Amino acid sequence: MSARAAVDAPRAVGLGERRPRDLGAEVSRRADSPGVPFVALARQHAALRDELRGAFERVLETDAFILGREVEAFEHEFAAYCGVGECVGVASGTAALALVLMTARIGPGDEVIVPAHTFIATALGVVHAGATPVFCDVQRDTGLIDPERVKELVGPRTAAIIPVHLYGQAAAMDQIMAIARRHGLFVLEDAAQAHGASFDGRRAGSLGDAAAFSFYPSKNLGALGDGGGICTSDAELAARARALRDLGQRRKGAHVLVGYNERLDGLQAALLRVKLGYLERWNAARRRHAERLRTGLPHELTPLAEHPDTPCVYHLFPVRHPARDRLVELLRAHGIGVGVHYSPAAHRHEAFDALPACSRPAELPESEAWAREELSLPMFAELTDAEVQRVGAACAAACGELEGAHA
Ligand SMILES: Cc1ncc(COP(=O)(O)O)c(C=O)c1O
Repeated sequence: MSARAAVDAPRAVGLGERRPRDLGAEVSRRADSPGVPFVALARQHAALRDELRGAFERVLETDAFILGREVEAFEHEFAAYCGVGECVGVASGTAALALVLMTARIGPGDEVIVPAHTFIATALGVVHAGATPVFCDVQRDTGLIDPERVKELVGPRTAAIIPVHLYGQAAAMDQIMAIARRHGLFVLEDAAQAHGASFDGRRAGSLGDAAAFSFYPSKNLGALGDGGGICTSDAELAARARALRDLGQRRKGAHVLVGYNERLDGLQAALLRVKLGYLERWNAARRRHAERLRTGLPHELTPLAEHPDTPCVYHLFPVRHPARDRLVELLRAHGIGVGVHYSPAAHRHEAFDALPACSRPAELPESEAWAREELSLPMFAELTDAEVQRVGAACAAACGELEGAHA
């Protein structure tokens, strides 16, 4: 769906999160310690089997496979959950990002400021819309886009900012919105990892001019396949996005825009409706696990800083260690499923070599440090207390082994 067709790169993957075989497939490699998977969707689905089957039957009976009543109902329910007027169901989070920018008429000649510490899709959405990503450094303690660095990057071609609520914690939206309003910029929240996150009591998805969600299976709210959503309270923007996702149609047969086929499936919407009913309790469970993981961590590991006005929904549980790669090996040897999010930093991907205009500052020290030092520990709602304890014990053992090796 690239407006420029400049980049036709294969879909990039972030270790531990994106490879389908990694979903729930981490197993113990030590006979004496049962493994803890990085993520185990089968546990979530086992508990919901009957309800998911019911949703499937409903779709089968109504033939509403593409858009249709389940999509409309999900859009309504998710918009209400996020506290916005509109949700537009689309095919993926990446499509949501690109479609919002196109809908806002941001494209060739425009620059969009994105964090360098994020999944590559944030920047790909910008490229697909024909605009140019400008990579910005992040805060050391949260890994979130740094408003002070954003200020330095705003220039005459800047059209938008995409703050990413990475790991499930909202970016500093008060400061980002103040910068945007001062310079007349559009703000698109990348809320792919932040279903249910909030800033000062307001939900992610309602904090900028529009937001892009992913319903990739392992997200806090995940489909059984690809899916995405655009949230906004701007009715005209939503109407244009609805047309753009559906081959440019405003109504059947009336193609008023050069559109794309980026629709959400009826089946995925029906399954997401089931899961939306559990999102709050799943997020609460993630927060409980995070609290316990924090208290059990050895001092060598630095967890994410969480600010009181931005309670994190812990899509992931990242920690940092200077000898990250060795630690990952040791933890895996202890049977702990670990991921790395994100390395290399987004601006370092080869895909962007094809984009000479793409602004890639030589120095983005905090993003580079996150890319070097971050590893993610197991985090999903169905983790047991015993597993959380086992992760803490394995972290202590692995750090001890590292120290022993250096002594
Ligand atoms: C921060 C971020 N942005 C965008 C995306 C893209 O979402 P999708 O995989 O649904 O295209 C993802 C998901 O993987 C993500 O984590």
